Amino acid sequence: MRTPATSEPERAETAAGEAGSEGASFRGRVVLVTGAGSGIGRATALAFGREGAHVVAVDRDAAGAAATAEALRARGARCEHLVVDVSSEEQVQEMIETVGSRYGRLDAAHNNAGIGGSLEPLVRSEKASWDAMIAVNLTGVYLCLRHELAYMARQGYGAIVNTASTAGLTGAFDLAAYGASKHGVVGLTRVAALEHARLGIRVNAVAPGYVHTPMTEPGGGLDPERRAAIFAAIPAGRGARPEEIAEAVVWLCSDRASYVVGHVLVVDGGLTVGDGIPADGP
Ligand SMILES: NC(=O)c1ccc[n+]([C@@H]2O[C@H](COP(=O)([O-])OP(=O)(O)OC[C@H]3O[C@@H](n4cnc5c(N)ncnc54)[C@H](O)[C@@H]3O)[C@@H](O)[C@H]2O)c1
Repeated sequence: MRTPATSEPERAETAAGEAGSEGASFRGRVVLVTGAGSGIGRATALAFGREGAHVVAVDRDAAGAAATAEALRARGARCEHLVVDVSSEEQVQEMIETVGSRYGRLDAAHNNAGIGGSLEPLVRSEKASWDAMIAVNLTGVYLCLRHELAYMARQGYGAIVNTASTAGLTGAFDLAAYGASKHGVVGLTRVAALEHARLGIRVNAVAPGYVHTPMTEPGGGLDPERRAAIFAAIPAGRGARPEEIAEAVVWLCSDRASYVVGHVLVVDGGLTVGDGIPADGP
């Protein structure tokens, strides 16, 4: 893990609001977000900052993490970034030790770092792509959970949200590794929630449908025709904005969700509600 002292220039943002402008439900609290350099993780980091949190923005992409931290500071929030590959146990362990020694607490964590990869039928897929996907999307969440939970168990409180996906709830063509990794995240969430509920630690997951981030934008692995068909099939008639996922994560981590344990909160514009059979609407 590297902890750069300087930050990269701020990127253009779709602002999640000025720090402190909406509420202060995380004032004085330390929140860690992985995959904070882009997409959903960046939106979540900004939303936690708006709620008064001291945010630790983690990503393996140094420039992305630094840009998020800079954007938060520009909004008046407290934020540092750490460069961490969540698939490395050594780096994850060091990440939690760093948070502990610098801030003395870890109130909430959003284990969100993930990769998409290309679409391919299972029989034509390469084992190397499977290994790469599982290493980040599943082992990465497992490693973060293990070290965060050990820390939170010692302090006696905490809330964690893992980013799963609707691909972790239903089967999806050509997404064997991704779907397996996200089903795994759902399973890990439930086990971790059961094992820690009596220790004052809540573990939940968010399951987004299709969100407008680099992962789903043209060039992110979905071919344009398929992308158009997917977005057209969403009952809400559009993909999600990253900020719409961030709101669910912040709520799950907040005291307002104090009795929500082991839940997988689907935020998908209705994608998994119906039977998938197209028909003319009203
Ligand atoms: N975009 C969608 O439609 C969608 C839908 C459901 C679930 N998700 C999940 O949401 C999460 C965030 O995805 P996104 O859409 O914001 O994508 P994104 O590509 O915009 O952001 C992912 C971030 O994770 C970081 N990352 C990747 N591997 C990492 C690693 N090993 N260690 C640390 N950081 C790493 C990347 O550098 C990037 O900044 C992922 O887990 C993804 O599977 C996305």
